[in-house]
Amino acid sequence: MNTLSSRLIVVSNRLPIVVSSTEEGWKISPGSGGLVTALAPVMKQNRGLWIGWPGCGDEAPLQELFARFGQEEGYRLHPVPLTEEEVERYYWGFSNETLWPLFHDLLGNCNFSLDNWKTYVQVNERFAQAIIEVCEPADILWVHDYQLTLVGSCLRAHGVTQTVGYFHHIPFPSLDLFRRLPWGRELIRGLMEYDLLGFQTLQDRRNFIHCVISLVPDTEVVRRHRRHTTLRYGAREVRIGHYPISIDFNEFNDAAASKEVEEAAWFLHENLQERQLLLGIDRLDYTKGIPERLLAYERALEKYPELKQKISLLQVVVPSRTMVPDYRDLKGQLDQLTGRINARFSEYGWIPVHYVYRSLDRVQLLAHYRASEIAFITPLRDGMNLVAKEYCASSINNNGVLILSEFAGAADQMGKQALLVNPYDIEGTADAIYRAFTMSPSERHRRMWALRADIRRNDVHRWVSRFVETLQRSRKKSENSASKN
Ligand code: UDP
Ligand code: G6P
Repeated sequence: MNTLSSRLIVVSNRLPIVVSSTEEGWKISPGSGGLVTALAPVMKQNRGLWIGWPGCGDEAPLQELFARFGQEEGYRLHPVPLTEEEVERYYWGFSNETLWPLFHDLLGNCNFSLDNWKTYVQVNERFAQAIIEVCEPADILWVHDYQLTLVGSCLRAHGVTQTVGYFHHIPFPSLDLFRRLPWGRELIRGLMEYDLLGFQTLQDRRNFIHCVISLVPDTEVVRRHRRHTTLRYGAREVRIGHYPISIDFNEFNDAAASKEVEEAAWFLHENLQERQLLLGIDRLDYTKGIPERLLAYERALEKYPELKQKISLLQVVVPSRTMVPDYRDLKGQLDQLTGRINARFSEYGWIPVHYVYRSLDRVQLLAHYRASEIAFITPLRDGMNLVAKEYCASSINNNGVLILSEFAGAADQMGKQALLVNPYDIEGTADAIYRAFTMSPSERHRRMWALRADIRRNDVHRWVSRFVETLQRSRKKSENSASKN
């Protein structure tokens, strides 16, 4: 994307770094994940500043570490320190025990606590103050995700008038579900203080607009475009669009072709010769549908005995949010299910499920993608699911098959070429495993080729450009109308 005329300020709950204490002293390294890869080049080009929680307490020498990071990475960081109690109530509590399950349609996992909500409001205010400390009138502000829905309204309360964008990385629920949130009206009014709101899918965008129209009486639709809808809210116009996030296709494609990855992939498959590998990679999260996936796999082994010895499931589970009780319970459930399937079906020389509970380094991640004949990605609900896109970008021989949940945002773009499943339908998902297993090389090639072409075209750089360019247009429009008044 072209260099912007202004400095870009990105605000997210976590800073794009990992601060760790090692034997040689404190260390700072760039974080992983799609957002960091997507935004780092734009931040470098535009004298960027990233504001967020450093993820550690005040024991780390942040100033010194951040100065080093700025020199090495080409953009600056600004921390929002949080107390232990704030982390407990705002992050673990309201963000991860209320908004996360509610927005993923899992009402049964929600905990509604007034104290947590109050701390969430206070911490959003803290983020707004951190922005005000460093922000200049010409800056472009881009806030990310459900932890920070109220930052826009806190900024407005302090008289900040400049253009602010917000991107919502997770699903937005239907009105019927959203109404269960006791503070839903405050939250939705808060969101309407941004100038541009981006969602992952058309359905998320529609759900949001439906909630606004029903819960905020003084709003009306001004214009509808294919890519965004403009709503009037008081004296302001707010644009609401859908911008499906993506990955850096070339980076995955090129790295997957490297010698290092090729060797690691060969080694992975060498031990499991003469069989197809079915791959699941997820954070340990109840939204990812891992137990249902294991049940479907178990059913496939029962229903199609010819799969025995010929297929193995590699399930990588990355530890996540271990302080939330529902996440800890899920770990126990997975241990039990994998144990049961292996005890039931294992034969000499063949283990049906290889279960790994840790994160993979980059080479191993790519080697898993390259070595697996089938990706088995079945979240109960997901904003997008980048693993699905990364798998295809790494499938450089066009020989992988993607089994994908119809409830992942990625299904909107990949649904025609993937084998779509309803993760609650154990029988149907078991059949999809068999279908993927028996798919001819030419059909695999045709489907994967189309998937890869689409991700190559709609990569993460395009995602950033589309959002930031619309934000800039919103700014020009409001500057023009301010100069007319
Ligand atoms: N990932 C990782 N290490 C691992 C496994 C996965 O960094 O060991 C990354 C993966 O490459 C992907 C991200 O974690 O970019 C997961 O993103 P996704 O959208 O699939 O799910 P989320 O975790 O954001 O819900
Ligand atoms: C999802 C959310 C992100 C979040 C990430 C990891 O991708 O959309 O906002 O950062 O999960 O979760 P964590 O709670 O560890 O930051």
